[in-house]
Amino acid sequence: MRVLVTGGCGYIGSHMVRCLLHAGHDVTIVDDLSAGFADTVPAGVHLAPFDVRDPRVRELLVDREIDSVLHFASRIQVGESMRDPRLYFRDNLAAGITLLEHVLSAGVRRFVLSSTAAVYGYPQYTPIDEAHPTLPINPYGESKLALERVLASYATAYGLSYAALRYFNAAGAWTDEGLGERHDPETHLLPLLIDAALGKRAPMTVFGTDYDTPDGTCVRDYVHVRDLSDAHVAALVYLADGGESGAFNLGTGQGHSVREAIACVERVTGKTVPVSYGERRAGDPPVLVASAARAARVLGWRPSRASLTEIVSDACAWLARQ
Ligand SMILES: NC(=O)c1ccc[n+]([C@@H]2O[C@H](COP(=O)([O-])OP(=O)(O)OC[C@H]3O[C@@H](n4cnc5c(N)ncnc54)[C@H](O)[C@@H]3O)[C@@H](O)[C@H]2O)c1
Repeated sequence: MRVLVTGGCGYIGSHMVRCLLHAGHDVTIVDDLSAGFADTVPAGVHLAPFDVRDPRVRELLVDREIDSVLHFASRIQVGESMRDPRLYFRDNLAAGITLLEHVLSAGVRRFVLSSTAAVYGYPQYTPIDEAHPTLPINPYGESKLALERVLASYATAYGLSYAALRYFNAAGAWTDEGLGERHDPETHLLPLLIDAALGKRAPMTVFGTDYDTPDGTCVRDYVHVRDLSDAHVAALVYLADGGESGAFNLGTGQGHSVREAIACVERVTGKTVPVSYGERRAGDPPVLVASAARAARVLGWRPSRASLTEIVSDACAWLARQ
């Protein structure tokens, strides 16, 4: 396939680009480098260093005969979305709609959206499947859900085929390819814990030890970034085969508490993670675990790097080199 990857210089997008190349697909990247790194682009891959809203994206789609778009480009910070929501409605929702204008007018038929578990809001049951109500509790999740709804309308009206892939907590790295997580600011638990263990940042605060979970700390579902990439390839093949558009959760179905994550980082690094324990933080659900049964059944996708130890080991190997 001939694939355009937006946000292909970011954390997940850069892994996606390598995964597509390994699977034999042709890749083009659009990334404005607002949060990405041009040094992730493999030799021979064309990087168009502009915004997804730029009219040149349409020309690129036509000139390079793109048949599928993977849309990773986005703002990604929940806290920022609470403080300054218009950034999220402008740069995630409105920009996504403009990108879809380019996609439709260029005649591209397949679109895969990086969506998120944040579309569900507070879990009403767990594990969370795709039938769970979608009631986001922050503008980040709202912006993604709204774009999913746009896609559903466009699928019905214009015959666009789409998959909205709702990731839980992306983690891990692909050290052999020189890729890993480089967010600034970093807000994700595992890289923060690892960097704290390696002495690269101040001690971590764990927010809340009195949740109704086995050890009192929050439980999350960590999914390896390479498994996420594999899921996108599966989604592209599924859509190309005429599969029905829709949303799919991507997670391992295994929950790990903050204390378990700390213990795992300590085991892998052989160092103590300096932590302090604080009050609960507003907006953190106690447990967020995916049911990815639909992705397994429909896309044939199962994570093959699902152990927390493997995810943490890969992330550590990358972060230790930074
Ligand atoms: N990291 C996670 O745990 C996680 C979980 C759920 C969903 N997601 C989604 O996955 C996607 C990728 O996340 P990530 O962690 O790789 O983020 P990232 O910030 O590392 O990558 C995003 C990339 O998009 C680029 N970009 C942003 N806005 C752009 C624009 N308007 N035009 C062109 N390029 C633009 C940035 O420069 C960056 O390279 C996002 O859509 C995010 O919402 C991530």
